[in-house]
Amino acid sequence: MNKLLLCGVSVVLTWNLAACSMSPQVDAQIVVNYAQKGAMVNPKMYGIFFEEINHSGDGGLYAELLQNRNFEEAVLPSGTTLQDGYAVAPHKPSYTTGRCNDWKVKWNTDSLKMVGWTVKGEADYDVVDERPLHKNTPNAMKLQLKHKGVILQNSGYWGVPVTKGDTYDLRFYLNAADYHGKVLARIVSEKGKILAESSFTIRGKNTWEEYTAEMTAADTDTKGAFQLAFEGIGTVYVDYVSLFPQKTFMNRKNGMRADVGQMLADLKPGFIRWPGGCIAEGATLDNRVKWKETIGDPMTRRSEWVLWNYHCTWGFGYHEFLQLCEDLNADGMFVANVGLSCEVRNGDYTDDLLPFIQDIEDAIEYARGDVNTKWGAKRAEAGHPEPFNLKYIELGNEQIGEFYADRYNKLYKLLKTKYPDITFISTLGLNKTLDKLEKTDMIDPHWYVNPAFFYDNDRMFDQVERGKFDIYVGEYAAISAANMDGALSEAAFISGMERNSDLVKIASYAPLLENNNRRDWPTNLIWVNNGGVMGRASYYVQQMYSQHVPTYNLTTIMDEMLPTPFNGYIGFTGKQPDNQYRNLKIIDASGQTVYESADLKALVEVESKVTSGRHSFMNGPAFSLLKEVMVGLGALEFEARVVKEPRVTNNLGFALQADSISHIPAIVFGSDEAGKNYFTLNLGNDSESSVVHLTRTVDGQGGFGRDPQGPELRLNVGEWNKVRIEFCKNDELVCSVNGKEVYRQQVEFLTKHYTLAGYDEKSGETIIKVINANEEPFTTKMVLNCAQVSDTGKVVTLAAQSLTDENSFEEPKKITPVETIFDGFDKEFTYTFAPYSFTVMRVKTSQQ
Ligand code: AHR
Repeated sequence: MNKLLLCGVSVVLTWNLAACSMSPQVDAQIVVNYAQKGAMVNPKMYGIFFEEINHSGDGGLYAELLQNRNFEEAVLPSGTTLQDGYAVAPHKPSYTTGRCNDWKVKWNTDSLKMVGWTVKGEADYDVVDERPLHKNTPNAMKLQLKHKGVILQNSGYWGVPVTKGDTYDLRFYLNAADYHGKVLARIVSEKGKILAESSFTIRGKNTWEEYTAEMTAADTDTKGAFQLAFEGIGTVYVDYVSLFPQKTFMNRKNGMRADVGQMLADLKPGFIRWPGGCIAEGATLDNRVKWKETIGDPMTRRSEWVLWNYHCTWGFGYHEFLQLCEDLNADGMFVANVGLSCEVRNGDYTDDLLPFIQDIEDAIEYARGDVNTKWGAKRAEAGHPEPFNLKYIELGNEQIGEFYADRYNKLYKLLKTKYPDITFISTLGLNKTLDKLEKTDMIDPHWYVNPAFFYDNDRMFDQVERGKFDIYVGEYAAISAANMDGALSEAAFISGMERNSDLVKIASYAPLLENNNRRDWPTNLIWVNNGGVMGRASYYVQQMYSQHVPTYNLTTIMDEMLPTPFNGYIGFTGKQPDNQYRNLKIIDASGQTVYESADLKALVEVESKVTSGRHSFMNGPAFSLLKEVMVGLGALEFEARVVKEPRVTNNLGFALQADSISHIPAIVFGSDEAGKNYFTLNLGNDSESSVVHLTRTVDGQGGFGRDPQGPELRLNVGEWNKVRIEFCKNDELVCSVNGKEVYRQQVEFLTKHYTLAGYDEKSGETIIKVINANEEPFTTKMVLNCAQVSDTGKVVTLAAQSLTDENSFEEPKKITPVETIFDGFDKEFTYTFAPYSFTVMRVKTSQQ
C-alpha cells in the first residue's frame, strides 16, 4: 500500500503517471529515509499465546502419551449440574446483559468415562469414585476380573507414538482389593507387536501403591497403544497411568514434547501468554482456570473440563508455563480471572473480588516471591528457588462493557500501586468503552477476520490516539484462510503494528497449536500429530518478524503508479421493496452528465427477481447498462428511499448477516467485472451505529469499515432523498444527502503491496520488509538515503505459487523462508519481489 508514516502521521502519495520519473519497467519506488529516526521497536514484540484448545496442550505440547490418565474425563464442568443429558450452568445473570444465558453442553457420562480406554477380555468394569487415589482425582477404573489375561488399553491421543531406542517413564497406581497375580505393562504397535514390556508383582491390599518402570521401545510406531495386562483375577482399581518420554524439550521432567518445544523456540517468542483465552474465564465462573490446581505433583492435580469440550489434566500448569518462559527466554504473561465468566457462555459473575485479588497476588508471589514466602516456597519445592520472570498480568480475557471497565479501574489502581513494575493489561479493544477506563498500561484488541480486513487495515494503528495506553494485539488471525493468502494478509497487518511500534508493544497470533486430529478453531499456527509437527505459512510469517526486529524504525515511503479506485461498475444494494432508487445520473470529471436513468428502481427490481440478496444486481442486465461510464473522476447522483421503518438489529461488525443489512440503502462502485472487488458506501443503517461509512470488498471478502465512520444518518423514511457522491482529486470521496455534506473521506488504494524498514544497531544492518500479495512480480526501485551501503546482504523470501497454497504434513516445507545472498545492494538498486511473497532484506549500512 502506498503510504508514508511521518511522525505517526500517515500520508498517502500517488504518482501522477505523466509526472512519473520511474523507468517503465519499475512498478514502484521505495525510499528508506535515514534522516528521521522512527520509534524504537520492542525486541520482545512478538510472543506466543498458549491456550488449551484443539488438544494443544494435552495431546500437543505436553509430552504425556496417555489420554485420560486419571479417569476424570466424565467429571462435569465445575459449576454445572447434569440435567437431561446436559451439563447445565447455574441460572445466574450475565455481567453484560443482566439476563440469564442458561448455558449448557451435551453430556454423556458413560462414553466420557472411557475416553482413551478400552477393556479387552471378559470383565466387569466401571469408572467409580469409591476409592479416591487423591482428593482432587476421585475417580478410578474398577476391574472385576473373573478370567486371566484381561487387558486395559489406552490408545493415547490418536495412537501412542514411540521411537526405537527411546525410553519412556511409566508411572501408575493400583489398589488391589482381592486381586492376586502379576500385571504386565506393555507398549504395543498398531499391529499388536510388543515393543516394550515390564512385569509387576502386586503389593499391598486395599491400599494404593505406586508402580514405575523405564520402558525402551524396540521399534518405532506412531499409532501404538499402551496396555496393562492382568495375569490374575479378583478386583483391582487402577488410576493415574502415565507414560512419559524421557526425551523432552530441554530434558525437563513432566516437560514438553521435544519437537513441539523446538518449534516454539524457533519462533524466538518475546513472551508467553497463559492460560487463555476463554478457558481462563470459564463457561461458568466456577469452570475458570484456577492456577493453584495446576501446580504440584501432576498426580494430585485436579483436571477440569475446558470449554473447548474436553478435560485438561493441567500437566502443563502454572509452574511449567513459567519454566517454559525461562527456557525460551520469554517474559511471562498470566491471564487472571477477575470474577467474570465468559459472556458468550454463561457470563455469570461475582462481586466478591477479594479471593480473586488474593489469587492474583499469590500467583505473583509464586512466580517472583522470596523462598520464605508461602507461594515462593512452593516454587522452590517444585525445584526452582530463583524467581521466574512474570512481566505481564492481563485482568480477564475478552471481557467487555462498562461493568468490566469499572471493575478494571478498581483492580488496576490497587494492583499497580502494589506491583508498579508489572504491566497490567485490560481486555478492552479499540472501542467506545475505552472512554470508561481511567488508566491502564495496555489494552488487548483481538482480530479474527478474513484476509481482506488485514490487507485493508495495515494503516489502522496510524490513527489511534497516543499517550493513553500501549497496545497488545493479543489474538489475531486470518480466520477464514489457512493458506498463503491468510499468511500474507497477516504479514500486511503486522507491518502496521511494527511501523506503529511506539503504540503497539507486543502481539501474539492465536491460536498457537492444534493436534491435527482435533480442530476446535479453524486456523491454528502449528499442527501437531504423532508423526511430527509443522508450521503453516503463517508460522513462517511470525518467525520472520520475530527474527528480524529492528532497533528502531526508519521512515519508509512506497510510491506506486496506481489506477483510480473509482473506475469500475456501479450498483445498488438492498432487497426491494425496502430500498428504492431513481433518477440516477453519472457525471464525468468535466461535469458532463454521461448517463441518466429515471427508472433505476425498475432496473434494480429486475435483478432482484433473478437472485435475491445482497449485490444481486452484479451480474444481471441492470449492471451491464451502467458498466462503461464510471471512468475518471466525477460524481453520482440519485434518489434513495427506504419504504419501511427499518428493523433494529444488532450490528456486530463482521458478524453482520445479510438480513441485517437488507435495510441499508447503499451504493457499490469501483467494482470489477466479476463483482469481487468493490467499494460500498453505506448511507446509514438500522443498527445502533447508524452512520455513513465506506467498506471495501476484496476478492469477495470484506464488508469491513476501514475508514473512519461518518456522522449518524437516517434517511427520511418514505421520502425520496437526494444523494450525491463526488469523487474528488486526491481520491477524496464526498457524500451529501439532501444538499448537506454527510461524509468526506480520503480513500486509500489497495494494491496489496506493503513495506517497512528499520535499523538494527547490533548488526549495523538496515532491515527492509516487503509484502507482495499479488500474482505478478513486483519490481521496485529501492532508494536507501544513507551514506554507505554494503553491496552484499541477505534476502529471506517466503513465497508461494498461489494464494491457496499451504503447508501440510506431506509437504511441511512447501512454503518456507529461503535465505539467499544478494550482491546488488546499493544506495539505489532495483529488486523484483516474487509473486505472493513476504521478503526480508538485511544489508549493512552506515549513516556517516
Ligand atoms: O483463540 C481462540 C479463542 O478466541 C480464545 O479462547 C478467545 O480469547 C477468543 O475468543
